[in-house]
Amino acid sequence: MTELIPMIPEAEIKKKIKETAEKLNTDYSGKNPVLMGVLKGSFIFLADLTRAMGIEHEIDLIGASSYEGTSSTGEIGFTKEPDLVIRNRHIILVEDIVDTGRTIVALKKYMQSLQAQSVKICTLIDKHERRETRMNVDYSCFTLEKGFIVGYGLDYNERFRYLPEIHDLKL
Ligand code: IMP
Ligand code: MG
Repeated sequence: MTELIPMIPEAEIKKKIKETAEKLNTDYSGKNPVLMGVLKGSFIFLADLTRAMGIEHEIDLIGASSYEGTSSTGEIGFTKEPDLVIRNRHIILVEDIVDTGRTIVALKKYMQSLQAQSVKICTLIDKHERRETRMNVDYSCFTLEKGFIVGYGLDYNERFRYLPEIHDLKL
């Protein structure tokens, strides 16, 4: 049996996204950055973040998957390549959650190999429990010490993405 415990309400998510968007507005004004959403988990965050931003920017999507269940399998697979030309662009990788850091570090390296002008990381949740690499998350809305959460795009084996708020999942 799975139990869902409400953790972050919609209004609080919205407020934090607004604050993050304002930081991005300041840092990227006049740079026309690309918000590069990482599929699938970031789709709701990306949709809210793009509408909260007040500066010109473009959007693309990249597909990466490494997870089955609640623990990483270690291998990063690319399931969708970006459509835009990355060379000389300012890339903001938009993730739902950074856990071990493997996915986002692999994506950052990939963007750098395509000669992006800059690559930064923006995540809804920065989870510390299992971080492996020394890496810097540039923008995060929330930090989480441990646990497994679902909702607002985040899934457990594809379930619960549709929930408008974030829940703690108890298995
Ligand atoms: P990392 O490579 O270990 O940083 O894994 C990041 C990916 O793992 C995220 O994009 C999520 O898809 C998934 N993930 C990690 N922790 C959670 C969680 O608590 N809930 C849902 N998905 C998670
Ligand atoms: Mg994901």
